[in-house]
Amino acid sequence: MKLTVIGCGYLGATHAACMAELGHEVLGMDSDMDKVAVLGSGKAPFHERGLDEMLARHTSSGRLKFTASYAETAAFADLHFISVGTPQQPGEHAYDLSHLFAAVRQLAPRLTAPAVIAVKSTVPVGTAPRIRDVLHEHAPAADRLEVAWNPEFLRESSAIEDTLRPDRLVLGFDSEHSWAEAVLRQCFEKIIEAGTPTLITDWATAELAKASANAFLATKISFINAIAEICEASGADVTQLAGILGHDDRIGGHGMRPGLGFGGGCLPKDLHGFMARAGELGAGQAVSMLREVDAINHRRRQRTVDLARQQLDGTLLGKRITVWGAAFKPHTDDIRDSPALAVAQKLHDLGATLTVSDPQALDNARKTHPDLDYADDPIAAVQDADLLLHLTEWPQYSHIDPHRLTTRAAHTHLIDGRGTLNAQTWREAGWTIQALGRP
Ligand code: UGA
Repeated sequence: MKLTVIGCGYLGATHAACMAELGHEVLGMDSDMDKVAVLGSGKAPFHERGLDEMLARHTSSGRLKFTASYAETAAFADLHFISVGTPQQPGEHAYDLSHLFAAVRQLAPRLTAPAVIAVKSTVPVGTAPRIRDVLHEHAPAADRLEVAWNPEFLRESSAIEDTLRPDRLVLGFDSEHSWAEAVLRQCFEKIIEAGTPTLITDWATAELAKASANAFLATKISFINAIAEICEASGADVTQLAGILGHDDRIGGHGMRPGLGFGGGCLPKDLHGFMARAGELGAGQAVSMLREVDAINHRRRQRTVDLARQQLDGTLLGKRITVWGAAFKPHTDDIRDSPALAVAQKLHDLGATLTVSDPQALDNARKTHPDLDYADDPIAAVQDADLLLHLTEWPQYSHIDPHRLTTRAAHTHLIDGRGTLNAQTWREAGWTIQALGRP
């Protein structure tokens, strides 16, 4: 099939590459010319495991191309995926849908033949009919266009696997949709034939599938982090407790790792967007618990700052602190709402001198947090440190022998914000160690 993917950020670039991998002829479209140039050369403008190789394979085979032209995009195919970003509005909880509607308004007047517009961007429930209305108003082929909702559940760092082997495929349609369903079933044929549960539903349910999935994932993380607060007050060990709870199939251990909490470009934003939309719909009370989910998440960051201050005898002024981790989670260079960087910045603002290390995210961190110092080598980063904080659980940090750090650091204090370092090994190397939620 021929298809286009409009908006080539984390989601769109991955989707475009994976659709080419499935055998389709794909045109990725983005209004950012620099991004188009990088993607067209077979590279991702961000770090995502396996994506560079996949982009290189399909740009060189000619099955995957990129453009900044809406005219070219509209003429290329009769299936258009839209995956432009829907960030949070500055100073508000609601989504900023301006990029999404700008894309639809640019595309619409150029749609002269029947087409399916399949939207993947995350939006407040009730957006699909507004998109249909814009298309009907501006597109020459208005009454031959069908809007489908195809929410995306991929995680950064396993984006390719999640796209090619998703745990479910959700397709939301208006009541009249026979053609759109056939087109999308053909597009996802290999995924459907592999036995992926395929759920056909209405627009609103498909929109809410994404919002409520992310709200649940955030709730699960904050639940175990609330329990971590109880563990801290009672001397229990939240890591062991999470393991014990996870053995119950009804609870399940996945997505329930305690620690510094969630960040990134999705969970925090979607939690806020969901609350804002529920309020607009007069159903704010139904999601009032999500305010607490958000509050628990931020308390973990404050708790880490408080622990650092305690470890440094009550004052951060003039202290040297090393932070391992800048990305919002391992295996990505994404620093959007990174808990690690939020803590580092707070400690800096309170008077400490910060050195941050990360295997992938330092270039991005330097741009947004210019006040902090950075070091590529996590071992060199510890030189003369009064305190070391482990805030993003890159696996390589677990493999560092703490004996190598003992003579470098000024003081051998460690706070493990992710609970993945081997406390016994560190203690044996002479370190005092405190971990969130652990005795
Ligand atoms: C999240 C969802 O997991 C995806 O299903 C969804 O498609 C995506 O948002 C999106 O809306 O596009 P992602 O932001 O890539 O994916 O990251 P997650 O792996 O869910 O992690 C989010 C944050 O929660 C990270 O900061 C991570 O460190 C933290 N986390 C995750 C925990 O603290 N504990 C956990 O058990 C899991």
